[in-house]
Amino acid sequence: MSDLLYTYTNELPLDAKVDALVFAIVEIADKKLPGQYKHIDEALGGQLSAVVKSGDFTGEEYGTLCLYNATSVSAQRVLLIGIGKPKDWNRTGWQHVVGTAARALQQVKAKSAAFVLPKEYLKKLKIEELGELFEKAFRVSTYQFTDYKTDKKATLPTCSALTIAPLMEAQAQQFAAGVAMGAIIADAVNAARRLGDTPSSDATPTHLAEHAVALGKTDKRFRVKVLERADMERLKMGALLGVARGAETPPKFIVVEWHGNKRASKTWYALVGKAITFDSGGISLKPGEKMDEMKFDMGGGAVVLGAMRGIGALGLPVNIVGIVPATENMPGGRAQKPGDIVKTCRGKTIEILNTDAEGRLILADGIGYAHRYQPQAIVDLATLTGACMIALGSHYAGLFSNNTPLFKQANTAAELSGDRAWHLPLADAYTREIKSDIADWQNLSKVGRYGGAITAAALLEQMAEEKPWAHFDIAGTAWATEAKSWLGKGATGYGVHLLIELARDWAKK
Ligand code: BES
Ligand code: MN
Ligand code: ZN
Repeated sequence: MSDLLYTYTNELPLDAKVDALVFAIVEIADKKLPGQYKHIDEALGGQLSAVVKSGDFTGEEYGTLCLYNATSVSAQRVLLIGIGKPKDWNRTGWQHVVGTAARALQQVKAKSAAFVLPKEYLKKLKIEELGELFEKAFRVSTYQFTDYKTDKKATLPTCSALTIAPLMEAQAQQFAAGVAMGAIIADAVNAARRLGDTPSSDATPTHLAEHAVALGKTDKRFRVKVLERADMERLKMGALLGVARGAETPPKFIVVEWHGNKRASKTWYALVGKAITFDSGGISLKPGEKMDEMKFDMGGGAVVLGAMRGIGALGLPVNIVGIVPATENMPGGRAQKPGDIVKTCRGKTIEILNTDAEGRLILADGIGYAHRYQPQAIVDLATLTGACMIALGSHYAGLFSNNTPLFKQANTAAELSGDRAWHLPLADAYTREIKSDIADWQNLSKVGRYGGAITAAALLEQMAEEKPWAHFDIAGTAWATEAKSWLGKGATGYGVHLLIELARDWAKK
């Protein structure tokens, strides 16, 4: 549910009694205000042309400037936001525009605002899409993680009343229909982020399991199972159990089934998310620097749980199982050691050459378990490799697939959601690098770090066997070390919206 109250008007809301009025402006090359903004400039007593002439505001993408006490406007503040060039005017760009505006409003503690929709975007996107992405971006960009702040003043007040213009009544209804969907997506994204931001002492495998059980109670079409260590032993999940050996906190194998399509009750899709609630590296211990960030190594699992929440709230008519193998990766007297060999639930052996390459091990049993559903597709998300961060940085996730139609679906979902991804290869040449001399596979490439994102994916590919499978390496995208104008620091929820778009697509089939 949205906690934002929307009102709509078909006029330019110059006299709206709000804390801020927001205008989105295209990129201006020559410091001369384009004619289309003349009436706004007049209403602002020439302030707009003045800031453009001075070069203080250029309309460059996601730049902002706040004007005060403009004539003929009731609002104390006028927030200008740049929307850049036509190449940016897509679903991702719109979310960045709205998110940037929302965070700027939050900074000036505006509690109400009127937002003038730019005609450039009105032409590019359907009104319902504009509404859905507006609500999603507004709520995701203003998310704050203050669960551990005892000073309540640390929480910024959020803008709670929005006037959207200019929309005719029928258009306003379409926008509002979009807002209702966007609210569900935002809730799902922010729920995943809250899990990611929570320290590992609290966000344990048990906590994730309880979260999933609570989610299961929200709708009869959910069925949630939590497998305990003894169940994992019975199922011979040697790869997951190996990683869990060093941890005092018990591992959990979380299964969330969404029975959205009773008529095709045997047709399933599987989502698998890596949930290492803390990755110390194990016996192959990580260096101390930034080790705190390894609390987000359960990002993939959190994203799968977030997506399941969204899929359920949207009531999508499709059967989807969310699978989240969850454990800490810790050193200790009983911990798994380099040189050990483990066996997956599908009977494949893996030689452990580095206990810090643990994600692919727990995913081996996660993907292995997915086979029980004979799924149409298996999609996994994991904060898998530092190498993927080296390759793609923080803006795009790595996307791998053994199946062209599924790759295309995944790619489209990435574009629709704004959770951007880039294709990386799978090939025999890489698979050869993970063949072990004494076991079926090894968890570290023979050539070491080079192509590390790919050799990690190559092992997962083996676990998918013949099933259509796609893998997102979200090591670079799941966590923001720096705030962006449209998103704060910390867990990003990358992938929740993407998986929801994928599920929407599957629901159409
Ligand atoms: N969780 C890490 C990957 C990671 C690193 C995610 C930094 C986000 C930021 C993963 O378990 C890991 O440790 N991978 C190793 C693999 C290596 C030992 C082959 C890595 O990337 O260094
Ligand atoms: Mn690791
Ligand atoms: Zn890890």
